[in-house]
Amino acid sequence: MTPKKIRNPFRPGRGATPPYLAGRENEQGRIREILADMADGDSPAADIVMYGPRGMGKTVLLNWVGGEVEKTSKHNLPLRAIQTTPTIFPSLELLWNKLISDDWKKKIWPEQIELGALGNKIVWNSKAHNEDDLVSVLIEECKERPLVLLMDEAHTMDSRFCQDLLNISQQVNQNAPFLLVLAGTPGLSHLLTTVGASFVERSEKMGIARLDAQATADAIVKPLDADGVTVDTDALEHVVEDSQHYPYFIQLWGAALWDLAKEKELQKLTAQETAEVETKVESRRLNFYEQRRATLDELELLPAAVAIAALFQDTETTTRDYLKEIIADNLPADSLATQSVNEHLQTFIRHEFIWNPPDSILFEAGIPSLMRYVLDKQREHVQERSSKPNQEIPAKNGNSDLDLGP
Ligand SMILES: Nc1ncnc2c1ncn2[C@@H]1O[C@H](COP(=O)(O)OP(=O)(O)OP(=O)(O)O)[C@@H](O)[C@H]1O
Ligand SMILES: [Mg+2]
Repeated sequence: MTPKKIRNPFRPGRGATPPYLAGRENEQGRIREILADMADGDSPAADIVMYGPRGMGKTVLLNWVGGEVEKTSKHNLPLRAIQTTPTIFPSLELLWNKLISDDWKKKIWPEQIELGALGNKIVWNSKAHNEDDLVSVLIEECKERPLVLLMDEAHTMDSRFCQDLLNISQQVNQNAPFLLVLAGTPGLSHLLTTVGASFVERSEKMGIARLDAQATADAIVKPLDADGVTVDTDALEHVVEDSQHYPYFIQLWGAALWDLAKEKELQKLTAQETAEVETKVESRRLNFYEQRRATLDELELLPAAVAIAALFQDTETTTRDYLKEIIADNLPADSLATQSVNEHLQTFIRHEFIWNPPDSILFEAGIPSLMRYVLDKQREHVQERSSKPNQEIPAKNGNSDLDLGP
């Protein structure tokens, strides 16, 4: 049987909700509990910080929370959600406009309502109000209609905006059901520590990491199954392993397999089919890696990246101090004059080359097999150079001595 649907259900892409949201049961369970408490009028004990490298599924999870808020509105207190990013509301003034709903603006400041041609037009500028008043109004509104503020890409907040947002959250949350959920790359953790150390301590952290093998298999099999296509054990094992349990790669694989099943009108996929689509998956993956490698190159951090990648060939985790040593040994000569080793370490974290999950002090590789890619590219580069000895370029800080592995 051919897949019944015309449109491929898999969604390889940023923020695209997958056909089956796999492996987030713990986070979903916890969030459902908090939302149910809020609908009963209770304030959540802490804000939530979700962080993880790119492509792990933070936006998808935030979208899911938004959807859950809609569902809970049928019970007790009706909840509302605002999902946004710092680019949409780069200043608190703009955000305030959204935090207090139009209904409440009409109720509290009726004199500021103007009737426009198309109905009520709200003439309201948060700048005209002092912040304590705004907080009080928001508290009153949240008592009747609890608010969940979902801030995606939170690592891009400027530190002033971040600090103000954390303050508002704290003040409102102490008096009414209000939940702030921040989602961002591992760089978010650093931003929060610099602007609100106490906030970080009391927030509930959720590391959005790779899925386990079972969840990876479910993410592939369930949507295919819904369209009448099965995957045999060998083929599935290969796909699960090759995807490295990384949500974005899982969707790449799913999409490629679905297209093939549709094109060839297959009901069952075997190792033959996985082999057939592997090149397609691989080429999109290489493109993804190359963009990240190019960024590190532009930042002149490629030699240090190669050294870190070489280290991670022998170990899954390492310490912060050891990483700093490696980075310091592999920076261009003058770069420590402008930035400290710590700042360079943060750059690696911001670009998801390495990260430390919330419940660990040890660092691990950010995006799977990007390290392998960086090493392979370096090896190719070294080989190319040795095949053209006359054009040899001097090595930076002795990186040519690095053991690049097999
Ligand atoms: N739990 C999941 N199960 C299956 N696929 C998932 C899951 N979560 C995310 N995906 C898929 O992974 C990809 C990346 O998801 P998403 O954009 O939410 O990641 P992100 O962490 O927000 O990335 P970024 O930091 O780039 O914004 C999408 O293609 C999405 O469909
Ligand atoms: Mg995202």
